[in-house]
Amino acid sequence: MVVFGGKKVGQSLARIGGNGVGQVLVAVAAALLVRLFSGPGPALLPENEYSSGDDDEQKDAAGDSDTTGEALVPDKVFPVTIRWRNITCSLSDKSSKSVRFLLKNVSGEAKPGRLLAIMGPSGSGKTTLLNVLAGQLSASPKLHLSGLLEVNGKPSSNKAYKFAYVRQEDLFFSQLTVRETLSLAAELQLPEISSVEERDEYVNNLLFRLGLVSCAESNVGDAKVRGISGGEKKRLSVACELIASPSVIFADEPTTGLDAFQAEKVMETLRQLAQDGHTVICSIHQPRGSVYSKFDDIVLLTEGELVYAGLARDEPLEYFSNLGWYRCSDHVNPAEFLADLISIDYSSAESVNSSRKRIDSLVESFSQRLSTIIYATPISGRKDSKNLKKTIVKKKGDWWKQFLLLLKRAWMQASRDGPTNKVRARMSIASAIIFGSVFWRMGRSQTSIQDRMGLLQVAVINTAMAALTKTVGVFPKERAIVERERAKGSYALGPYLLSKLIAEVPVGAAFPLMFGAVLYPMACLHPTLSRFGKFCGIVTVESFAASAMGLTVGALVPTTEAAMAVGPSLMTVFLVFGGYYVNADNTPIIFRWIPRVSLIRWAFQGLCINEFSGLEFEHQHSFDIQTGEQALERLSFGGSRIRDTVMAQSRILLFWYCTTYLLLKKNKPKYQQLELPPQYHQIPPKLLQLEPLEPNLPPPMEQDKSPQKLESPPPPPPLDPFNLEGAK
Ligand SMILES: Nc1ncnc2c1ncn2[C@@H]1O[C@H](COP(=O)(O)OP(=O)(O)OP(=O)(O)O)[C@@H](O)[C@H]1O
Ligand SMILES: [Mg+2]
Repeated sequence: MVVFGGKKVGQSLARIGGNGVGQVLVAVAAALLVRLFSGPGPALLPENEYSSGDDDEQKDAAGDSDTTGEALVPDKVFPVTIRWRNITCSLSDKSSKSVRFLLKNVSGEAKPGRLLAIMGPSGSGKTTLLNVLAGQLSASPKLHLSGLLEVNGKPSSNKAYKFAYVRQEDLFFSQLTVRETLSLAAELQLPEISSVEERDEYVNNLLFRLGLVSCAESNVGDAKVRGISGGEKKRLSVACELIASPSVIFADEPTTGLDAFQAEKVMETLRQLAQDGHTVICSIHQPRGSVYSKFDDIVLLTEGELVYAGLARDEPLEYFSNLGWYRCSDHVNPAEFLADLISIDYSSAESVNSSRKRIDSLVESFSQRLSTIIYATPISGRKDSKNLKKTIVKKKGDWWKQFLLLLKRAWMQASRDGPTNKVRARMSIASAIIFGSVFWRMGRSQTSIQDRMGLLQVAVINTAMAALTKTVGVFPKERAIVERERAKGSYALGPYLLSKLIAEVPVGAAFPLMFGAVLYPMACLHPTLSRFGKFCGIVTVESFAASAMGLTVGALVPTTEAAMAVGPSLMTVFLVFGGYYVNADNTPIIFRWIPRVSLIRWAFQGLCINEFSGLEFEHQHSFDIQTGEQALERLSFGGSRIRDTVMAQSRILLFWYCTTYLLLKKNKPKYQQLELPPQYHQIPPKLLQLEPLEPNLPPPMEQDKSPQKLESPPPPPPLDPFNLEGAK
């Protein structure tokens, strides 16, 4: 169709491009195409994570080893300690001129080999804090974020270390099995493991570690087809994130939606990962007692403020009891006790008042004591990093390998999606039967000319709408998966889009072919085999062009619902200028470009030429239409060829694909930058070093598992008693 390379591309596309706007589109498409398909191998490491500008930081964080563009061998975990001080996140509302604090002066630290839980009532800022620590807080002009974040003793951000973020929502390709999902992820993210045996062993190891062996061959599934359980999905998410061998694992509410047993299994997995040397930080709502006992450290937040940060288990209970609150009795889940202690009771005005007073006092007490609160374990950082074996392998971008892997995955997803394919097949056949019955065996009378045009128009609309709605219904979700994978630097956009286009050809072509095969004989359209073949070819190309338009819509808007609203509306514009309702010659001059970019118009024109040329109609008067060519003249389609219309469709398809490419490239998620708090403005950033929360600890040493006791605070101010059921 298109010869790639230099002038030839431009010339051949210009020929199919017509003039005016068409040529501009062709020029843009050609330029993008050349860029898309002839560029060098992809930048495997995402710009926002391992950009060259941060080389120094990376070296520092990785114990002065050169980590730019490199991946640690999977089973080595580089220890990372994160400290944060005075994190404040505010949300300003310009209309009411008010400022709301989502986080206020939050400090704390997370260490390798330890599981830190961020706990607090709903809306207390757990996810916000987790996002800030992971550098993943979505940017917004209303937000203001300040504070200090330090990684292994250096002011830094997430760019300095590898991290995994297990989100609340688990997104996967539903038709792949657990093993296939992991295996493909490993192939994409770890090209250095080239032998199949090694990779299988690596995947088996992951399946074993995450307790996924029993469901390894089950499909992941989705809302339509039941697959693995929620807990298994969550563990698969963790497994996929572990492939990049992250130092830090962030998990947002990993137990939400799971039953107590599954929740415990997921948390046990996270605990084991912490024991393997990862720094694990998770937000959690209200864990059961056995889950609570797995935490090494906790951060308690309420309304964005810190109530406690330090060792977990009995320490916070002792701390609050020393503050003068009732002690949590042995048969009460400590997590519930803490949740009740730091939640506002909205049952009555008095209870709101008293609980707010209690919380204010707790926040106040903790802020006074923040500098003396002790995390029992010292940092195991620099020393370890020196000993870290430099088993580092360069990641190599292999465009074709990525393309083939993605093609395999896209094909598995498209071909195995039985329920969707069945519905699409049934709908294609049913609409063909309905149209075939309405336009049953059209003769050659004068009135059949209008019928033919009407039938061809509805065939075109039906094909375009079916392809468009299917794509806009599925793509926004797939886009979210692709964005996550691309954020990890798994692959480039070019191979992804090309593989998607190619993998969907056989499945996508099957439905227009079914439609044509049923409709054509029923309506008795131009009865030759070659015309039938061309009919099917035109509707198939149109279907792909409509799908490509659906991809653009899906890449443009954030949700499936929005895509469902925008897609058909946009198609309606193309439909109005589709050649049937408004004659191309009568189109107002400012809208003349629309028919040129309307896939409906080109498909309709192609089908009309295919149908009418060579046909003779019964006629009685001299002004009657006698030949098909005359009918085409009336539609202003005279003098053009089917080939031209198919080329125009292909050009439109290409245009939508290139636009999708650009949109996906441009619409990368943007994250809020952490600014220096005002009190640190005088200090040059290089000299900024956070004091450890434990002031008198000697520098690096072995991890000490025996917790140090908190100092007893001074007696608390007199407050209303806090009553918890079960508490003495
Ligand atoms: N970008 C934002 N714009 C407006 N409000 C926000 C934004 N991000 C967070 N918030 C608000 O900040 C508060 C804290 O949100 P966050 O999601 O961190 O709570 P959470 O503790 O994780 O709650 P949950 O347990 O329900 O998940 C909420 O009241 C939320 O509405
Ligand atoms: Mg949350």
